[in-house]
Amino acid sequence: MIKTNYLIIGSGVAGLTFALKIANQFPNKKITIATKANADESNTKYAQGGIAIVTDKIEDSYQKHIQDTLICGDGLCDESVVEMVITEGPKRLKELIEWGAKFDKNVAGTLDLGKEGGHSENRVVHHKDQTGKEIERAILNQVLQKENITVLDHHFAFDLITKNNCCIGAYVLDQKTKEILTFQAEYTLLATGGIGHLYGHTTNPVIATGDGIAMAFRAKAKITEMEFIQFHPTALYDASTDTSFLISEAVRGFGAYLRTKKGDRFMLNYDSRGDLASRDIVSQSIELELKKSGDDCVYLDCTHLELEGFIKHFPMIYMHCKNIGIDIAKNWIPVVPAQHYLCGGIVVDKTGKTSVDNLFACGECSRTGLHGANRLASNSLLEALVYSDKIYHYLANHPFDDLQETEPVQDWISDKITEIDPKYTANTKLELQLLMRKSVGIVRNDLDLNKANFKLKQFQIEIEDKIKNHKTNASLGELRNLITIGSLIVEQSIDRNENRGGFVKN
Ligand code: FAD
Ligand code: SIN
Repeated sequence: MIKTNYLIIGSGVAGLTFALKIANQFPNKKITIATKANADESNTKYAQGGIAIVTDKIEDSYQKHIQDTLICGDGLCDESVVEMVITEGPKRLKELIEWGAKFDKNVAGTLDLGKEGGHSENRVVHHKDQTGKEIERAILNQVLQKENITVLDHHFAFDLITKNNCCIGAYVLDQKTKEILTFQAEYTLLATGGIGHLYGHTTNPVIATGDGIAMAFRAKAKITEMEFIQFHPTALYDASTDTSFLISEAVRGFGAYLRTKKGDRFMLNYDSRGDLASRDIVSQSIELELKKSGDDCVYLDCTHLELEGFIKHFPMIYMHCKNIGIDIAKNWIPVVPAQHYLCGGIVVDKTGKTSVDNLFACGECSRTGLHGANRLASNSLLEALVYSDKIYHYLANHPFDDLQETEPVQDWISDKITEIDPKYTANTKLELQLLMRKSVGIVRNDLDLNKANFKLKQFQIEIEDKIKNHKTNASLGELRNLITIGSLIVEQSIDRNENRGGFVKN
């Protein structure tokens, strides 16, 4: 058994930021980060558009950002959370800059501010079109310099350990030695990110399998608003791959138009904000257009944009398109909606506490009340930065007296030697992804949802049996988690009878 004061599961913006802050506060306490892939692999690393923060107090204001967030959330945001998160943005940005993150500036030497769907002003602070990579680099670099933080990469958290509704650690699989380690922790933070690979067709990297939410669910934590899946309107259309390259919404903020194959600028028919309507509305409109036309995709037209400025702001998008034969100065970019973000998740209060004692959640796996029924673009990195700070402040004021005095934790016991057939996990995952895409997509209906619910129950019985009788491995653990997440989304979609934001049921 390994003792640690703070166990952090996940090394995206949420986990790393908290780790760094608590490590600075308590140089003599031990902080362990378990992360299932390379330390920098995360949704964070792929964030393109940037962080929504009010830095221009002349054109913009907190009140405008708050209003945009509330409008996007379609009546389901917690207003006090929205106000708290948005007004703390500038402090969190200052910290990121102090840690070495670089953000683009304009000729006047002030921050260059991008615009995205649902924003009434330019307020998105960015590092070209690779903001997440820059943030991840800067914070990870700080974390790796801390002597009291141990980063365990390729360590897959399998389950939380709880006693009397209190989290006392986790079982973590060392994917290199195949050994299950038992961690005893005073406090555990879930920072495990999103769920994209439940759908397969997603902008998320393969690590996004909803593990933290599923573990929290098994530990009986409260999980809500799972029906609010955000589909990004402009994932690059490429029938040959699952994980889709994102064409940032900031490209539309820069002036690009959405067009049908015939050239119609259809968004003007759906919303007065046109191409910069909020994401839920743009994705739903594209879905309708594709149903009407029978086409496979719509198009993003950048041909009228100033090329030099485009390349400066979006070098990665420009090169990615170029490498697959799309010259954005001449050709329209084919795009379709793809799963992108989960608005709901593990319910936390304003200090990041879950309904299980000593268990905290932060970032995309949490449900804070900021996003309501649909997240405003670029509010996610901001939410993770603000909540990791809130959790840090809470825990800085609530240190455990002595870890040695806590109750001993039962080591993992397993006598299973049979390996699971990898074909079973791979095929079941594909079947599950297809089910979610067909029955739990942008527009849902109760008939399909009930059928999906039935199928998911069968998957659940089967996977529990496989888990009981086979040696634990990460693919099996992920598959079990994906099935749990699918069930939560389907059940909560069946329960919701009112269309809001990203949720539409006919
Ligand atoms: P992540 O960054 O996803 O980190 C999760 C971590 O948990 C990873 O290290 C993962 O390996 C680890 N993990 C997961 N399960 C386990 C397990 N069982 N055991 C151990 N480790 C585990 N948001 C914005 O605000 N602005 C943007 O411009 C923006 N652009 C985006 C573009 C793309 C392509 C994508 C995919 C997302 C974008 N988002 C954006 C959303 C945003 O990036 C994420 O919501 C945010 O980064 C989530 O941070 P996180 O720390 O919660 O999770
Ligand atoms: C994007 O750049 O379009 C993604 C922004 C986000 O998801 O917040």
